[in-house]
Amino acid sequence: MLRVHGGRPPPGVLDFSSPLNPLGPPRILVETIERLVRERVYGVYPDYDYGGLREAIAEHYGVAAESVVPLNGAAEGLSLLVLALRPRRLVTVEPTFGDHALASRALGIPWLAVPYALDGLEYRLDPEALCRLPEESRRGSLVVLSNPNNPTGSLASRSSIEELAACLEEGSVLVVDEAFSDFAGDSESLLGIDSGGIVVLRSFTKMMAVPGLRAGFMYTPDARVRALVDSVRQPWNVNALASMALEEVLRERSLLRDFVNKTVEYVSAERELLASGLRALGIEVYGSRAPFLLVRQPEPHPGFNEKLVGRGIYVRDASSFSHLTPHHSRVSVRSRADNLRLLEAVGDVVGRSPQEP
Ligand SMILES: Cc1ncc(COP(=O)(O)O)c(C=O)c1O
Repeated sequence: MLRVHGGRPPPGVLDFSSPLNPLGPPRILVETIERLVRERVYGVYPDYDYGGLREAIAEHYGVAAESVVPLNGAAEGLSLLVLALRPRRLVTVEPTFGDHALASRALGIPWLAVPYALDGLEYRLDPEALCRLPEESRRGSLVVLSNPNNPTGSLASRSSIEELAACLEEGSVLVVDEAFSDFAGDSESLLGIDSGGIVVLRSFTKMMAVPGLRAGFMYTPDARVRALVDSVRQPWNVNALASMALEEVLRERSLLRDFVNKTVEYVSAERELLASGLRALGIEVYGSRAPFLLVRQPEPHPGFNEKLVGRGIYVRDASSFSHLTPHHSRVSVRSRADNLRLLEAVGDVVGRSPQEP
């Protein structure tokens, strides 16, 4: 198997491996999709320019329509950017999400990993780590980071990302993958930024809980990058159902704003319940602004993840992320009832009882 991602739980087991909005998709999106299926929109090709979808995204997020390229999920942006820009080097801030090692090996592009700084149990973006690289490594590179970061959950400030961007030399492009940004209230988002050489990727997968729909977009004020990505994407990269449904639903601004606010409140409360419950069971929990927690067993419990599966709980073994170990796991935030089941199962595996919530 080439790739390792979450979201493939054994049958009948609660999936804590794939972080999605625990409240499920907004009702308006479900109703719109169901209506469009009845109208058989899958019988037509989507508009390969995605004029209507670009407009709807632009209006929703307050950016210019020409700065938007619709994508088949944010993940498509990561692959397309490597193909389109053919950078001299791929630089990532680790540990992070993405098939960078695969892409760099397949295309023969050298890959350089720069670590996040770790202060206790807080991962922190350290712009200096990138600024200290030799000038040669900062020229013609594609630099990728995700914010909030998967799998750490850490949120870097917009000012620290801008500081990092300022260290890049000619021909480099910085990609900020903001797939989880709505969960952190968008306070540090770079959407709308007006500097060349910066690309923001966004996803509809996580907040709208529709991983099977496959939709996201790229924002960049850089016309050269947009044109290159647009010329290597396949013409109908976003399917007709996803593009028509989102074009309609994104216009429901106040409904969606209420949905996002309710989600952010729910996820923060449940994340706190999970974090304090896991700490009480002797598990280390890293600071997170995302709908998941990176955790570590300070005293290793052999077969921790497998024993949880035996108790109906599937978490993401985080050892496939660079810089992490077999004692790290990533746990998604789910509903209150599910989170309590997870705490009970972990308590069972480590031989302690969970606290009363
Ligand atoms: C940081 C990050 N970016 C992108 C993706 C993929 O998002 P999408 O479903 O929009 O392709 C993920 C999926 O887990 C992710 O964690």
